[in-house]
Amino acid sequence: LAEVWALTKGLLGASRIAGLNILAEVGFSYPKAISFAGGQPSETFFDLEYWLSTIPVFQRELAKVRGSDEATAAQQLAQYGYVKGIINSLVAEQLGIDLGVTATPDRVVITSGCQEAMALCLQALCPDPRDVVIARNPTYVGLTGAADCAGIAVAPLDLEGLTFATALRAKAAELAAQGKRPRALYVIADFDNPLGGVLTLEDRAAILEVCAQFKIAVVEDGTYRMFSFDENAPPALATLDKEGSVIFLSTYSKTLCPSIRVGCAVIPVSLFGDVAASRALTVDICMRKGFGTLNTSQLNQAVVGGVLLTERMSLKMLVQPAREHYRRNRDALVKALSSAFTSDEGVSWNYPQGGFFLALDLPFAFGEAQMRRCAADYNVIVMPMTFFSLDGSQSTRVRLAFSNLTTEEIAEGIKRFSAYVRKCVQQNATDAV
Ligand SMILES: Cc1ncc(COP(=O)(O)O)c(C=O)c1O
Repeated sequence: LAEVWALTKGLLGASRIAGLNILAEVGFSYPKAISFAGGQPSETFFDLEYWLSTIPVFQRELAKVRGSDEATAAQQLAQYGYVKGIINSLVAEQLGIDLGVTATPDRVVITSGCQEAMALCLQALCPDPRDVVIARNPTYVGLTGAADCAGIAVAPLDLEGLTFATALRAKAAELAAQGKRPRALYVIADFDNPLGGVLTLEDRAAILEVCAQFKIAVVEDGTYRMFSFDENAPPALATLDKEGSVIFLSTYSKTLCPSIRVGCAVIPVSLFGDVAASRALTVDICMRKGFGTLNTSQLNQAVVGGVLLTERMSLKMLVQPAREHYRRNRDALVKALSSAFTSDEGVSWNYPQGGFFLALDLPFAFGEAQMRRCAADYNVIVMPMTFFSLDGSQSTRVRLAFSNLTTEEIAEGIKRFSAYVRKCVQQNATDAV
């Protein structure tokens, strides 16, 4: 681990990347601690036996589509394959049914998870040194990591007291005045990582309007969209998009499991009204993917394809128990926080409508040193929000992941964390005297 850390430090010099290594190290150092740090899906719902049993279903489908026999289809599955993928039509159908995102197979590029889709989009959209991606501050570390690796600057978008559209318009104008070209906006509209927030319908419409005006492509990360606790979630930006601004990214990491490493990018029919530009973008993304990873594992695609065929192109029923689990955990977390803190203690939190994360504000700074102290003395690990910050801000915030814990662990973990918080508040009051 120390070696990995030294390598990443030397290569990127990015404290954001360092955050992930520190977190892993703290996790290893305190294996008995209750951890609200990592946002992994719950392992309770990993049904490998069922998923693997569906491979022959996809194999038969492949044989039918290609007019071959099943043995040939099996051999083809074990070979190198199309860069763009072999489950595009199944994925396109599922995105329409489950997420309300209209896709046609030719516009779907199958990738090794959402992470690869994101990295490829950034590289294809921002090839010039002046090109910049705008991201809400704080944001998902995978985005900043992918941008860092490609040498692409990330411009932080701070909303403090502003609507998304006002902040975005000002940022686009500011960047243009500096001679930079804002080419992409990275957004997690639904239950984002790290804040656990959801964009209103008004915000979504306004983002599309501003992005169309400035010709900024929206890279919409739909990783958590299947995990809404509310039946009336607003439509995806991709669904509302009339101008051809949105590239929608999805993944099977949370609906099935992260080790499946299958996700996708859906390119709009036309990029700001230009059909040729959209096709060129698709070719560019595929070329980069081809040289990067050749193709997404066909065996893993066969598992996703088999499950989709068996589930009749919708994963809603399959993820329902997991969704219920995440909702129960959200409820347990909010309940534990409400009973641990009184309203005059300066501790506040949001109420996530879906996903895996909750953001909590503290009356004092909480960084790496505090995370270590909390883990060592109180046996509970929480994630400083500074790890997700693009500019060192967010110093008094933490992210609590509630996805991969039991309700008992949540209750006990918050009891421990609140004892730590109370101790810090008392200490600060004593120091101030
Ligand atoms: C917002 C967001 N996007 C993308 C990813 C990575 O997804 P994948 O496993 O599909 O690469 C994650 C992982 O936690 C995430 O939180």
